[in-house]
Amino acid sequence: MVAEREQWGSRIGFILAAAGSAVGLGNIWKFPYLVGENGGAAFIILYLICVLIVGLPVVIAEILIGRTAQKNPVGSFRKLSNGNPFWMGVGALGVFTGFIILSYYNVIAGWSLGYVVESIKGSFQNLESPTMAGELFTQLSSSGQWAVLFHGLFMILTMGIIYCGVTKGIEKASKIMMPILLVLIIILVIRGVTLKGAKAGITYLVKADFSVITTKTVLLALGQAFFSLSLGMGALLTYGSYMSKKVNLPSSALSIVILDTLIALLSGFMIFPALFAMGLKPAQGPSLIFNILPVMFNSIPGGYFFRIFFFLLLSVAALTSTISLLEVITSFIVDEFHISRKKTAIIFSCIVFLLGVPSALSYGSWSSFKIFGLTFFNLADFLAANIFLPLGGIFIAIFVGWFWGIKNALPHLKEGAEKFPNYCSNIWSFLIRFVAPVLILLVFLSCLGII
Ligand code: PHE
Repeated sequence: MVAEREQWGSRIGFILAAAGSAVGLGNIWKFPYLVGENGGAAFIILYLICVLIVGLPVVIAEILIGRTAQKNPVGSFRKLSNGNPFWMGVGALGVFTGFIILSYYNVIAGWSLGYVVESIKGSFQNLESPTMAGELFTQLSSSGQWAVLFHGLFMILTMGIIYCGVTKGIEKASKIMMPILLVLIIILVIRGVTLKGAKAGITYLVKADFSVITTKTVLLALGQAFFSLSLGMGALLTYGSYMSKKVNLPSSALSIVILDTLIALLSGFMIFPALFAMGLKPAQGPSLIFNILPVMFNSIPGGYFFRIFFFLLLSVAALTSTISLLEVITSFIVDEFHISRKKTAIIFSCIVFLLGVPSALSYGSWSSFKIFGLTFFNLADFLAANIFLPLGGIFIAIFVGWFWGIKNALPHLKEGAEKFPNYCSNIWSFLIRFVAPVLILLVFLSCLGII
């Protein structure tokens, strides 16, 4: 007997879960350092344009595929393409990408959790400079035991939620964690902008200097929009497959995109004013959060607690994303192989954990082990974020815009959204057929160094 497919208990439950998938390390760790390295406000404006003309239309398309077919990525493409093996392959690529992203993303998530513990222990109290914090970061992340321990603990947290199911696990956890995340980030923003000398940071975030923008910046902004919105690998498709057809899809998609963008912007306002107040430079690169922030909190009144809050925030945001990644794999195995959710969650968490160990060790004993000149960690990140996600994105846009076709897709989009205006469907159709595939293709080629 095939068990009936679970459905989200409420519209808000779906929105919070999907926004939880979108809001993650991409918003709090990656977005601020990209802004810092690429001209502040000018980058932010570019990012917003990309979200609006590519992000939102593809979010709608991806959720729509899942909701219409009510299946995992492979099953959904099979159903809507009448078993076309190419499109099923696109679904399979999504599941595979989920595997890879989860394996290294969980390692960084583990560092965040480890930093919560270190913050509570007071390990950062005596650090005086970012260099000292950098050394501590290297020491911790290169210690195989520390990195693997927290990688494993984080995987157990993720597994626990998926084990409990869609409504009792993902939805319940998102309903608790997303408000906590919002409150924590607002506390930290208020702390940041009220520091002495914070004004320079605020100016940096609102005053645009377009002279620093190049094509590479545009492509970086688009790639970031993609990663941040969890697009191109079936996470939103899978969440959409648990969505009722009575729910208004376009307006839910808009809420998800607004929440994700809001949190990215708030992350900027949490970090830059404090950074400038400390007299530090904005272009610190990927190590911004783990090297600079722990020290920064030392010169802030109440810094001990704010540091704990910050890494807690990072961990919570990462957890709502890791569960969406594991859910893609779980829904695939449960649907296609009829293995129970509980068994699948346990077995595949173990497999992903093992796959992530080389990534966890990439900063330590395995740092000299390289494939194509990249450490295991960097290779996994490069393959997933720069190759598989854009590829998946192009295919989703082409599938909905051309293969399945706007004519077939529109009636499904309007289910639950009967009042969706015609001019909106026309704009969506134009963006999904022409703008999204072309722009994503440009990103893809640029990531590969072809243009
Ligand atoms: N969107 C998540 C973030 O911003 C990352 C992610 C990508 C999650 C793809 C799921 C799927 O951190």
